[in-house]
Amino acid sequence: MILSRVAVALLLSSFCSAAVHHLFVGTFSTHAIYALEFDDETYSLTLAANITTPSEHPWINLSHDRKSLYTASDSAYGYFNVVNSTSVTYNASVPLESNCSSTRAIFITSSKVEPYTVYGIPFGDCGTVIPADFSSITQNYTFTSGSSGVHGLALLPNSTYLYAADDSDDKIWTFGVDIATGELTDIGVLDAPAEGNNPRHLTVHPNGEYLFVILEEANEVAQYSIDGQTHQPVYFNVSYSLLPPDSDSTTHWADEVQVSANATYLWATTRSRETNETGYLSVFSLNGNGSIANQLFITPTTTSGGTSNAVSPASFADEFAAITDTSVGFVEIWQLLDDASNATAVAHIDLVDGGCCANAVWYD
Ligand SMILES: *[C@@H]1O[C@H](CO)[C@@H](O)[C@H](O)[C@H]1NC(C)=O
Ligand SMILES: *[C@@H]1O[C@H](CO)[C@@H](O)[C@H](O)[C@H]1NC(C)=O
Ligand SMILES: *[C@@H]1O[C@H](CO)[C@@H](O)[C@H](O)[C@H]1NC(C)=O
Ligand SMILES: *[C@@H]1O[C@H](CO)[C@@H](O)[C@H](O)[C@H]1NC(C)=O
Ligand SMILES: *[C@@H]1O[C@H](CO)[C@@H](O)[C@H](O)[C@H]1NC(C)=O
Ligand SMILES: *[C@@H]1O[C@H](CO)[C@@H](O)[C@H](O)[C@H]1NC(C)=O
Ligand SMILES: *[C@@H]1O[C@H](CO)[C@@H](O)[C@H](O)[C@H]1NC(C)=O
Ligand SMILES: *[C@@H]1O[C@H](CO)[C@@H](O)[C@H](O)[C@H]1NC(C)=O
Ligand SMILES: *[C@@H]1O[C@H](CO)[C@@H](O)[C@H](O)[C@H]1NC(C)=O
Ligand SMILES: *[C@@H]1O[C@H](CO)[C@@H](O)[C@H](O)[C@H]1NC(C)=O
Ligand SMILES: *[C@@H]1O[C@H](CO)[C@@H](O)[C@H](O)[C@H]1NC(C)=O
Ligand SMILES: *[C@@H]1O[C@H](CO)[C@@H](O)[C@H](O)[C@H]1NC(C)=O
Repeated sequence: MILSRVAVALLLSSFCSAAVHHLFVGTFSTHAIYALEFDDETYSLTLAANITTPSEHPWINLSHDRKSLYTASDSAYGYFNVVNSTSVTYNASVPLESNCSSTRAIFITSSKVEPYTVYGIPFGDCGTVIPADFSSITQNYTFTSGSSGVHGLALLPNSTYLYAADDSDDKIWTFGVDIATGELTDIGVLDAPAEGNNPRHLTVHPNGEYLFVILEEANEVAQYSIDGQTHQPVYFNVSYSLLPPDSDSTTHWADEVQVSANATYLWATTRSRETNETGYLSVFSLNGNGSIANQLFITPTTTSGGTSNAVSPASFADEFAAITDTSVGFVEIWQLLDDASNATAVAHIDLVDGGCCANAVWYD
């Protein structure tokens, strides 16, 4: 009896023990990556390092093993070695495809499956496939049929398929992935639910059966089933507004959607184009099969979010997420209430450098 109580107490204390967690944050137009520290007991959020970089980084992504940080870096894709929780050093970069309709890299992601291939896109009609060590370029590819603005990518968890959100052309692309080389083959393309929806970012549930898509202009999250045979997304008319009733959809543009560490929740955000209005955060509960169960709430964010308001759920607990802002230049940590009926900002750090803050990634 006493032993089991001790065991329970030990388990509880090890689960609840306070820890300092680390994040890296990129910026849209200054040459810095910031390393932050968040204490989940005292809620302190501090700047651990201001790392000068060769370029700006509208999007950053950590490799599966957290040893590499990949960046969409203006006119190139960048690769940094992660030295430790507060230090990264520039290693290499590769250029965008020279024929592309855009010269600005906007998004980058990496596979969790060997050979850990990296996928980058500018806000344009092309993409680049890069080996994990950036020693070369594996493939330059073009989005056909006149697409002009692909904005987000997401891989199936086992990296056999890649999905691309086409903002300007209202489409969702599916590519097959060569498991040996990471190279892509165009499999199919699907229209967005309606013209002018503007798919921006997307994320696949870890069970590989559902795809959640940010419809930027519609200010919605759309839920797609991933067909088990074709692996293409299928839309069953399930979507949720990210705005409270009566708010102005024309002044808002949705930003980001991501699944929490344990796949308990889906976090999604929208921004305001007007600095005198707030953006909104919405959190959804997920069913065991990965589909959305309920929209738990829609709550205003601290500011408009500027061009950001990018939400990044914590890797260590389902109840925390980071949200970035460019209207002022700050990062906040948000926490769900115990009953998940709402969330509040529990920590805030200003990073006012004229270009911060794009997206945040959790290191630990
Ligand atoms: C970053 O890369 C990981 C693989 O390491 C991927 O699962 C994740 O979705 C990516 N996140 C973002 C925000 O791009
Ligand atoms: C991380 O690496 C930097 C640069 O080498 C060093 O200054 C710092 O002390 C290291 N931090 C930790 C926690 O080891
Ligand atoms: C770049 O990273 C590789 C590991 O992928 C490492 O072997 C090499 O020393 C690094 N080079 C520089 C210049 O940091
Ligand atoms: C990809 O495009 C870049 C820039 O135009 C070029 O340097 C590189 O050789 C190309 N690589 C392949 C494999 O097409
Ligand atoms: C770029 O365009 C030129 C001229 O149209 C063409 O010869 C070349 O193959 C293209 N390169 C790529 C990587 O598409
Ligand atoms: C990858 O995952 C998909 C979706 O879960 C599944 O249909 C497919 O069989 C898997 N492929 C491999 C090679 O594991
Ligand atoms: C979705 O809604 C549209 C328009 O109301 C309808 O035509 C279509 O059949 C619906 N699709 C499904 C899969 O329910
Ligand atoms: C915000 O500013 C815009 C343009 O200045 C104005 O049209 C709008 O009414 C303002 N909105 C609020 C909520 O005050
Ligand atoms: C997923 O689970 C929910 C809740 O149990 C259920 O309503 C829904 O039909 C399931 N979806 C599929 C495709 O079975
Ligand atoms: C995941 O969920 C389980 C059971 O609901 C819980 O015990 C565990 O602490 C959760 N893990 C995280 C990282 O939140
Ligand atoms: C959620 O919390 C915010 C303050 O952080 C408050 O303005 C809002 O009314 C709350 N929403 C609900 C549904 O209680
Ligand atoms: C980081 O350092 C750069 C170069 O010294 C400086 O311009 C910038 O303001 C610093 N950022 C912050 C948030 O202090």
